[in-house]
Amino acid sequence: MTKLIWMTDPHFQNTGTIDGLDPRLRLKAAITHANAHYPDAEFALLTGDLVGDDIDGDYTALAGYLESSALPIHPMMGNNDDRAGFRARLSLPQDAMPDFVQFALDTAEGRILCLDTHKVGSAAGQFCDARMDWLEGQLTDAGDTPVYIFMHHPPMSLGLPKQDEIMLDEGAAFLDLLTAHASVKHLFMGHVHRPTCGSIRGIPFATLGALSFQAPAPRPAWDWDNFKAAAEPPHYAVVEIAQGNVTVQFIQFCDAQFGLSG
Ligand SMILES: [Fe+2]
Repeated sequence: MTKLIWMTDPHFQNTGTIDGLDPRLRLKAAITHANAHYPDAEFALLTGDLVGDDIDGDYTALAGYLESSALPIHPMMGNNDDRAGFRARLSLPQDAMPDFVQFALDTAEGRILCLDTHKVGSAAGQFCDARMDWLEGQLTDAGDTPVYIFMHHPPMSLGLPKQDEIMLDEGAAFLDLLTAHASVKHLFMGHVHRPTCGSIRGIPFATLGALSFQAPAPRPAWDWDNFKAAAEPPHYAVVEIAQGNVTVQFIQFCDAQFGLSG
């Protein structure tokens, strides 16, 4: 059995707030909760949108928060991230890809692949030939070993009108590669700041609410110009894999008002 913690989109800032929300309090609460209640988890994955605009200051402070956790936390890239800043300040597994923040974690239940879908200067995602080649190599090497994929940008639309405009550019080609490998058992994605689940070309998937602010439901319709975070509490998830069976528990670690001022 393998148990891991999944967190996403902390939008951490070393100072200030996001529309009144203190992302430091939210991240600290999530780490404290996970350490208290899931000490048996092997590690945690943080699927991107790690920081705000102060690249150096935010990554430096974030590194301290992650290192304070008894549970090892592996950070990943999102659209809000900066690859050079990330690599300068955060720790990566030794065999991580040199040019992109992609790495594999082998567990008793299979191989976890953590992908880098960052596209420089864009909120949408990218999966270039170099990253695709790395993934294909990992899938080929895994053979019949089950593979679980974590990434920031979904490779398909999810019925979330605004987020669907900023998904992975090469989604169809990405899914072509996955469906050529029966070993791929599940996709886990950040970016959309809402929990959804379903399947794509027969592969089960899940997204997760953010540690920071939650995106509104698709209805009533909304736009980025009048974006207002949903008054919903944040979550992290506990992913348990046992003999190939997967459960995803959504864990509320604080209430919707926690970390909000005013
Ligand atoms: Fe985000």
